[in-house]
Amino acid sequence: MLGVIDPELGDNLVDLGMYQGADIGIGGEVSVKIALTTAGCPLRAQIQRDVEQRIGSLPGVAKVKVRTSEMTADQKQSLMARARQKARENPVATDIPARTRVLAVSSGKGGVGKSSVTVNLAAALAARGLTVGLLDADIAGFSVPRMLGMEGSLATSRAEPDRPLKIQPMTKTVGRGAVKVVSMGFLSREDEAIMWRGLILNRGVQHFLEDVAWGDLDYLLVDMPPGTGDVQMGLARMLPRAETLIVTTPALAAQKVAARAADMARKGYLRVAGVIENMSGFVCDHGRRYDLFGSGGGERLAAEIGAPLLATIPIEPEVSAGGDAGTPAAMAGGEAAKAFEQLADAVLDVAPLVEMRDCTARVLDAVRHQLGEAPDPS
Ligand SMILES: Nc1ncnc2c1ncn2[C@@H]1O[C@H](COP(=O)(O)OP(=O)(O)OP(=O)(O)O)[C@@H](O)[C@H]1O
Ligand SMILES: [Mg+2]
Repeated sequence: MLGVIDPELGDNLVDLGMYQGADIGIGGEVSVKIALTTAGCPLRAQIQRDVEQRIGSLPGVAKVKVRTSEMTADQKQSLMARARQKARENPVATDIPARTRVLAVSSGKGGVGKSSVTVNLAAALAARGLTVGLLDADIAGFSVPRMLGMEGSLATSRAEPDRPLKIQPMTKTVGRGAVKVVSMGFLSREDEAIMWRGLILNRGVQHFLEDVAWGDLDYLLVDMPPGTGDVQMGLARMLPRAETLIVTTPALAAQKVAARAADMARKGYLRVAGVIENMSGFVCDHGRRYDLFGSGGGERLAAEIGAPLLATIPIEPEVSAGGDAGTPAAMAGGEAAKAFEQLADAVLDVAPLVEMRDCTARVLDAVRHQLGEAPDPS
């Protein structure tokens, strides 16, 4: 069993605590118990097959039955601890500069505005002259290219003839700054895109982390897919320095779900940098405010998890219209733009820019650059 590796976590099933024992029956029938991180694990079939093959190849085994179950919270926690230890030993090699602040925008459930918040925050930061990377980790349901009005396909190139091929992010200039985006939406070959979508979500994220020539970045924002599943755990493992921003709506129910997301992030040891309440009250033309989705959810969540409430973003038709038109509301003035400005301020406050000069991160980057591992930041 030591030979069966979880393809996502890159470690064997025994050390990960996923192997839960086996019964050997008469006639050489072996029944193996495997606990998965989630019941709907997309890699379930692959893991089952690998176990069957591995055990089936042992002498005297006539038949293999694999029974899967879902890990308990405690088991998941020790699995994460193990995966983190492993990651420290062998971190994913990436071109993301050491000084770059990595912020994953997540939530407990879908449709609360993660992608809208991510693109608008990226635009608001870039408008201040910063260079912001945007990794669309929603492999199956990407929406970033549309929301930023970007299309095309990702090109690859080499920094030097003997260096590996790297993906060049697509760049959108905003004021004096820029947003550099990678997304499945930029993969031109439909068959390739479909294969990726159906297959291994985490692998897509890993690919973007490892094989993109990010160049210099002040921030890297990661637009997370809905839910608290494997992609979040994978990111925590692959990029241990990532922090998370939790988006919630003002409703109490959403706040509970978001609390689970925060809890999940903690168990993966991602620092929760702050909470963002989206879809807060709607103010009509006459100045009257309607709390369509309740109120106070962001504040309550922030208090509950001990993280600051960074901003409350009102419901504004400009946010959704801007998303459809590819012009983020943050760039268009109005109430929502003010709220995103406030959010950018708060982010600069809780996750301040790493001062480049004389700091170790800068030195590390320079060394990597000399070695040809990082592209020219200019
Ligand atoms: N503050 C807002 N005001 C008005 N509409 C908004 C606001 N925030 C988000 N929306 C709209 O709500 C819908 C869902 O937003 P969005 O796609 O950003 O959510 P999401 O959390 O990324 O969803 P998913 O979980 O599917 O990735 C979109 O149509 C978007 O335009
Ligand atoms: Mg989204």
